[in-house]
Amino acid sequence: MKTTLIIYESHHGSAKKAATILGTIIGNTKVYPVDEAPDTIYFNNLVAVFGFCGTNTATGTMAYLSKVKDLIEKKPMAVIGIGLAKCDLPGFCEKIRDAAGGKEFDAYFSEGELRVKDLTAGERDLLADFFEKYGMTLEDKGNFNTANLTDIACELALKYRVPKKPMAKDFLREKIRAFILSHNTMVLATAKDDWVRCTPLEYIYLDGIIYVITEGGLKCKGLWQNENISAVIYDAYRTMANIKGLQITGKAECIEVMCDEYQQVFMKRHLPLKKIDELPISLYLIRVTPVKYEILNSDFKKDGFDVRQVLTV
Ligand SMILES: Cc1cc2nc3c(=O)[nH]c(=O)nc-3n(C[C@H](O)[C@H](O)[C@H](O)COP(=O)(O)O)c2cc1C
Repeated sequence: MKTTLIIYESHHGSAKKAATILGTIIGNTKVYPVDEAPDTIYFNNLVAVFGFCGTNTATGTMAYLSKVKDLIEKKPMAVIGIGLAKCDLPGFCEKIRDAAGGKEFDAYFSEGELRVKDLTAGERDLLADFFEKYGMTLEDKGNFNTANLTDIACELALKYRVPKKPMAKDFLREKIRAFILSHNTMVLATAKDDWVRCTPLEYIYLDGIIYVITEGGLKCKGLWQNENISAVIYDAYRTMANIKGLQITGKAECIEVMCDEYQQVFMKRHLPLKKIDELPISLYLIRVTPVKYEILNSDFKKDGFDVRQVLTV
């Protein structure tokens, strides 16, 4: 498991909020204000978040990075600036790079906010002078951009949460297949905009495809408008030493009743098509095509692998 240290330097809370969002989404993280960050870097990755603050920007962050630069030399690092003017980011990054011993890092900008009521008297005077110089008045500006931050966090999560000891693809594929075949129920999430639905369903697994025979229901509302699904197959939690679960990301659709594929699935399930046809209601068939598997299995550790493994199909 790879871990990430997140440090933040915030004057009025935006960078702190950003660091909190990043911490929860990236996962396996620990978030510290920069003045409380540990000197011993036992984390695999480092993320520094700071609010833009004129000449006072990221001063604590630079002092910290300068102190630990030898320890972070080989670690992946990202810097996230929260401010009003994106064009200020490169200048701040240059100074941060110098402080970190010339280290390369990914740099991101996300909009923060200026709320006049929260400013100290000193900040208000300083900013009023600054704005006046550019023919502007000091007023509330910017809106904290949560959506942009969650996108940045997802990008970093994909980069940072790769297993330290990944399984060979074929071996992992077999482990996933065995897990799916040793269960028969999944929870399928379908969605369209702000409409989301989770449904527990019995499934059949044939040649890498998951099929669900169903009398229908509201899950199909999402499927007809959005083919993207998420599903999970899992064992009930007992202890941390025995965790097993499989998250599936994929595409799904309702396939035509009695088409060739439909008939094959019912035949493989030993369900006579004549009987199915005679039922007073139709049975529908949902085809789920997995695109990505994320499996968690504490047994993997016994074989020297990460507990969490990812397979893209
Ligand atoms: C004293 C002060 C100076 C600021 N200087 C800048 C600046 O140079 N560039 C900018 O884009 N935003 C600037 N801002 C706006 C802040 O970047 C914005 O309010 C941000 O959300 C602050 O994050 P924080 O609350 O985590 O400190 C400044 C705000 C204050 C209060």
